[in-house]
Amino acid sequence: MSNCQHNTAEPLAQDNIFPHGSFISRNMRNRRLGHQSGVIWLTGLSGAGKSTISTLVEQTLFDRGYLITVLDGDTMRAGLNADLDFSKQSRQENLRRAGEVASLFAQTGHIVLATFISPYQEGREYVRSIIQNNFYLVHVEANLDDCIDRDPKGLYKKALSGDIENFTGIGQGYENPNDADLIINTSENEIETSANKLIAFIESISSLK
Ligand code: ADX
Repeated sequence: MSNCQHNTAEPLAQDNIFPHGSFISRNMRNRRLGHQSGVIWLTGLSGAGKSTISTLVEQTLFDRGYLITVLDGDTMRAGLNADLDFSKQSRQENLRRAGEVASLFAQTGHIVLATFISPYQEGREYVRSIIQNNFYLVHVEANLDDCIDRDPKGLYKKALSGDIENFTGIGQGYENPNDADLIINTSENEIETSANKLIAFIESISSLK
């Protein structure tokens, strides 16, 4: 197993766990696919446009030959993370699991568009530390008032009337990132303009050297 990746003779801190190796490296997968893999982490308020932009970008780049996948907060919470609520602690666990899944996808050649509110700096730094290689933070920024006006899921209405206690932006805070690799402002730009900005960014960071 001389070329075997990630194989280790030492167990991890948890007892008796030996991550399994592979002869197929990330680099080999990237060369086969013709682009680098990585994780584009979109943070922002509910209704800022993270999922909408990601869906457009996924379709365009898929058509251009990229292996690209959206990993969405609501979708993860409907399955793998269905046991988690919106307390600060559960949001952290939500991101830990999402970060680990995104990392596995990136290892196998995908460009992952991870769309999570991820409201706290600590949580975002944590996923950055899980993923390490080719992690990019994108702040999808929008005025809270615009998000409330858009209210695509009717959740701001519920939060403002007290039916949801800990809704981000209403009952809980959102910490603006100061370490974003890209800021897309959807209060100031049309959705297609925002999507095009992200497409150009991804194409610039994913080309093979
Ligand atoms: S995160 O804060 O843990 O990153 P995540 O992105 O997974 O959140 O999920 C956010 C989605 O859950 C929102 O888009 C919304 O549809 C739904 N949601 C339900 N309750 C809440 C809440 N209290 N705060 C924020 N989003 C909520």
